[in-house]
Amino acid sequence: MEIQLWKDILNPYELAVEELLVKFNHLIKEYQDRGMYSPMEQVCGRVKSISSILDKAQKKNIEVDKIEEQLDDIAGIRIICQFVEDIEKVTELIRNRSDMQVVTEKDYINHMKSSGYRSYHMIIEVPVFFSDRKENMRVEVQIRTIAMDFWASLDHQMKYKKDVE
Ligand code: GTP
Ligand code: MG
Repeated sequence: MEIQLWKDILNPYELAVEELLVKFNHLIKEYQDRGMYSPMEQVCGRVKSISSILDKAQKKNIEVDKIEEQLDDIAGIRIICQFVEDIEKVTELIRNRSDMQVVTEKDYINHMKSSGYRSYHMIIEVPVFFSDRKENMRVEVQIRTIAMDFWASLDHQMKYKKDVE
């Protein structure tokens, strides 16, 4: 696929990630300004690189023109909490928002993966507005504690990137 075409596809995802980062950071600031404890410690986000998208599509046998339809994590947001109890507060917060629609949820907090991975996953849909149209973008939100995130980073580094057993 041509680079320009990829840019057209990925641009709305980048906007979705940017806007979500602003929204969650506003919430963190609101808690801070009120002198309250924030259930969110930190939030970060990314859009998958073209090469990672192609790698994943190949692994999952997804045709190029079905990538947007079948890959849920082209756009990703990660919310880091201090304590495991905070995770539920964050999921409830997301469920109650009228500007994000929850599509699916996966609870790897209470149901740890066999790998040892723990995290709460929500696929949400957020509208992104252009001069002439609105697009609903799917974003994968991963919510986990600092400790779970530390574990996941090392696991990811070993498994996905270095092909270590
Ligand atoms: P993927 O094909 O990996 O997207 O899995 P899935 O579509 O069945 O969704 P799942 O909720 O299991 O995983 C979504 C994302 O969570 C992955 O893309 C990873 O970023 C992360 N993840 C899932 N399992 C593991 C794991 O065992 N280790 C690490 N480090 N990350 C994981
Ligand atoms: Mg997935």
